[in-house]
Amino acid sequence: MAHGTDAKDGVNLVYHRFSAFHRFNHVLVMVSFFGLVLTGVPLKFKDSIWAQLLMDLMGGVAAAGFLHRVMAVVNILYFILEFSYMAWYVVARKGPIFHEDSIVPGKKDWADMKGMFRWFFGKGQKPKLSRFAYWEKFDFWALFAGTFLIGGSGLMMWFPEATTRILPGVSLNVALVIHSNEAFLATGVIFIFVHFFSAHGRPESFPADEVIFSGYLPVEHYISDRPQEYENRLKAGTLHEVIRPAPSARRRRLFRWVTATATVFAFLAASYTVLLVLWPVLF
Ligand code: HEM
Repeated sequence: MAHGTDAKDGVNLVYHRFSAFHRFNHVLVMVSFFGLVLTGVPLKFKDSIWAQLLMDLMGGVAAAGFLHRVMAVVNILYFILEFSYMAWYVVARKGPIFHEDSIVPGKKDWADMKGMFRWFFGKGQKPKLSRFAYWEKFDFWALFAGTFLIGGSGLMMWFPEATTRILPGVSLNVALVIHSNEAFLATGVIFIFVHFFSAHGRPESFPADEVIFSGYLPVEHYISDRPQEYENRLKAGTLHEVIRPAPSARRRRLFRWVTATATVFAFLAASYTVLLVLWPVLF
């Protein structure tokens, strides 16, 4: 969803999509994931010249290992925060759970996916998306499951004595295989194939979707991008919960800069991943 303002009768209104908590958590995901890939992946390709160069730049293997653990703590922190938020959301009944506007996948997502592919080939109308599109739900739950797997196997390697007090020694080898391969898969999924591509590479968002940094988007973009949520809210009379006055021009400029900076890092990360994939093929 691209950014701008909605001027109606001189009043600027925006649709508020992400709270400060979710934007903060997304920053933690970004920082820790960038850091973990940067410090972990050279270990996997330790024989290549670029991995040795990166290791030297980071101050050697011990320094990279230390940084990897610092970033791992940030990684665990966002997982705990998000999990606690979800538990609170369910217990305090903050909103719908099994509803098309919730993050839980349902029948509509399957229908939307099929409809989207039909639309790609000019065989039907574009599906009317609800609050979260099917690819956004995939992104969210894949990261959730991936963090559990990578984090769990990483902690097993970080604390080998504690692990082998409960499990046989071979479990450490299994943890390394899971960690290493899942890390490689996650790097490709986030930096190229799914997340960057579907969240920021779509024509509606390219080159970056500002909404995850600012939290809001123009009302007219909201209506055209999430028509089903808009209709649902109109019917339920809950539109006022998400429509707010636009932030000041200064704040909007700040968010544009933040997004531009993140885009440069995203481009570097995607180039790094292409290098990872092509290196073994070319050399
Ligand atoms: C809670 C999260 C994590 C923990 C506790 C953790 C911990 C570890 C530990 C202890 C090692 C062994 C190497 C060393 O001693 O320095 C390692 C290696 C590695 N980590 Fe992580 N890590 C985490 C998340 C991640 C993530 C998200 C990625 C990338 C997406 C990643 C990528 C790697 C890679 C590629 C290796 C090298 C594996 C190999 O030698 O083949 N890690 N990690």
